[in-house]
Amino acid sequence: MEHLRVLELYSGIGGMHYALTESGVAAEVVAAVDVNTTANEIYKHNFPNTPLLPKTIEGMTLDDFNKLAFDMILMSPPCQPFTRIGLQGDVTDPRTKSFLYILDLLPRLSKLPRFILLENVKGFETSSARDSLVKTLKECGYNYQELMVSPTCLGMPNSRLRYFMIAKAPPGSFSFHTTSAIQEGFPHPADKVLLEPSSPISPSPTTTTCQKDDHKEDEGGILYKLERAQDAERKSSQNRDPSLRQIRAYLEDQGEGEMEQYLLPPKTLLRYALLMDIVRPTCRRSVCFTKGYGHYVEGTGSVLQSCMETDLEAAFKSLERLSEEEKLQQLSRLKLRYFSPREIANLMGFPKHFNIPKNISTKQQYRVLGNSLNVHVVARLIELLVS
Ligand SMILES: C[S@@+](CC[C@H](N)C(=O)[O-])C[C@H]1O[C@@H](n2cnc3c(N)ncnc32)[C@H](O)[C@@H]1O
Ligand SMILES: *[C@@H]1O[C@H](CO)[C@@H](O)[C@H](O)[C@H]1NC(C)=O
Ligand SMILES: *[C@@H]1O[C@H](CO)[C@@H](O)[C@H](O)[C@H]1NC(C)=O
Repeated sequence: MEHLRVLELYSGIGGMHYALTESGVAAEVVAAVDVNTTANEIYKHNFPNTPLLPKTIEGMTLDDFNKLAFDMILMSPPCQPFTRIGLQGDVTDPRTKSFLYILDLLPRLSKLPRFILLENVKGFETSSARDSLVKTLKECGYNYQELMVSPTCLGMPNSRLRYFMIAKAPPGSFSFHTTSAIQEGFPHPADKVLLEPSSPISPSPTTTTCQKDDHKEDEGGILYKLERAQDAERKSSQNRDPSLRQIRAYLEDQGEGEMEQYLLPPKTLLRYALLMDIVRPTCRRSVCFTKGYGHYVEGTGSVLQSCMETDLEAAFKSLERLSEEEKLQQLSRLKLRYFSPREIANLMGFPKHFNIPKNISTKQQYRVLGNSLNVHVVARLIELLVS
């Protein structure tokens, strides 16, 4: 296959670019577009040779797009308008404007891009922005498939359930059976299904894992220790699932002193200990890291119990009877800390050579990572799209 020319919209820190590289598809990002100066600094630092346009998408003309002569669009539009915990402004939200602009432009391009991949949060599938996307793709004759995929489908110990649209321009078709329903997890190759005509398509172990996926945004404020029994059971069954890797494979190999900066401050410990999702290095799960991580504790991502000798259950059980000072002493023994930005990047599938400039604050690093995507998941989807 010839070299594909790829347009990366809403490029952020370049998660899509890393996924493209990992997919092994012969391709070149001919332009990345994003308005965020922090994200752009990180992108440029890692992809110094990729043309990065620091402007708004709606500030680009049809002519600008035509000149780029791209074969593929990779994009993750801003997700705030669609998250169910957000305001749900959907298409009336000004942040959706650029996306609707792209949809308006698509049919008018001098050449339809052969491939489109879009990533968004769970919740997008019920938005009217999604309906407009489907309508536009249909009108242009695209073959497409919608999917919900989490990194747990690939054995990664992190939940990040996301909506994906993959679309192929006519006469392209997929190597698997497409359905109008949204598929859960990665599709099985069509030939595999044909090889086993007698047995009903039994879910592979990976599919089962995908379906057991936990997703904080869905849980309506379920709290550690106050959590429902079924949530506790799901968590412990994930921790026993051998198809998922342990958290420790993704941790930084740093001295304890180096990680001290990530320890939870006393105030946070006292106020939020019961609300946090706590994992140990031997766990095989963690909740989705979002952009408020390290700043807001609740529902923004798991924290790590870095002292394995202390028993978590015991530490929590006896808390009630203690004074503040004793409580703090007891909780401190767990050495609860945030995952470092590097560890979150690892859990999101970013390669070792991905690097954030030193002068970007930790808080900003969490923010841009929380806005990004799982590179391995998208790499697999790009393979499926192009094969
Ligand atoms: C969900 S993030 C994308 C993250 C990206 N895929 C990554 O790996 O980091 C959305 C990005 O869109 C950018 N953005 C939002 N509205 C935009 C617009 N109208 N024009 C250009 N970029 C925009 C934001 O600055 C943000 O970086
Ligand atoms: C970081 O350093 C670069 C290059 O020295 C500079 O252009 C940029 O503005 C700095 N960014 C921040 C957030 O300080
Ligand atoms: C860039 O994005 C980060 C993370 O969402 C945000 O904190 C920051 O304010 C944004 N900066 C600009 C200039 O938009």
